[in-house]
Amino acid sequence: MGLTPAQVASIQKNFATINSDLQGYGNKLFLRYLGANPGDMVFFPKFENVAYNDLVSNSAFNAQTLVVMEFLGKVVVNLGDLNKAGAMLQERVKTHKPRSISMAQFERLLDLLPRFLQEEGKASGAVADAWRVAVASLMPFMRAQFAK
Ligand code: HEM
Repeated sequence: MGLTPAQVASIQKNFATINSDLQGYGNKLFLRYLGANPGDMVFFPKFENVAYNDLVSNSAFNAQTLVVMEFLGKVVVNLGDLNKAGAMLQERVKTHKPRSISMAQFERLLDLLPRFLQEEGKASGAVADAWRVAVASLMPFMRAQFAK
C-alpha cells in the first residue's frame, strides 16, 4: 500500500506552511534531532563544538538546516512519483554513506518528522500519518542504495 494521491496532496499542502519559514522549521527539527541524539554532533565538524543553546545563532548550523529543508521541499514536490522521490533520497545516501552516516541515523531523522510536523508545523494527524506512509515507502529505496 503506497501513498494515495490525496495523501500526497495533503503533505504538499501542509508543506506550504513549512516553506513559509524553512529556516525556522529546519532549526527546530535539528534541535530536536540533536537534542535526542547529542552524540551525532560529531558528524558536523562545522558546529560540533557550539553549545546546544547557541546553535540557532550559528551560521553553519543555519546553513545546514536550510539545505536539508530545501532538499526535503523538493522531495515533497516529487512525492507523487515515488520512484523520483526515492531516487532523490538515494543521492543523499550516496553522499552520506562515505561520511559514515548509517541508515539508522537517516531513520531517526525521518521518524521524527511526522510528529514534529504535527507538533510544530500545523500538520493534522492525517497528514502525520501520510508522512509515515511516505517514509515507509521511501525507506526501501534508501536501504537498497545503502546496501550497495
Ligand atoms: C533524510 C535525512 C537527511 C537529509 C534529507 C539530508 C540532506 C542533506 C543535504 C541536502 C546535504 C547537502 C548535500 C549533500 O552533501 O548531500 C547534507 C549534508 C550533510 N548531512 Fe545530511 N541529510 C539527512 C540526514 C543526515 C543525518 C542523519 C546526518 C548526521 C547525523 C547528516 C549529516 C550531514 C553532513 C555531515 C553533511 C555535510 C555537511 C557539510 O557541508 O559539512 N545528514 N544533508
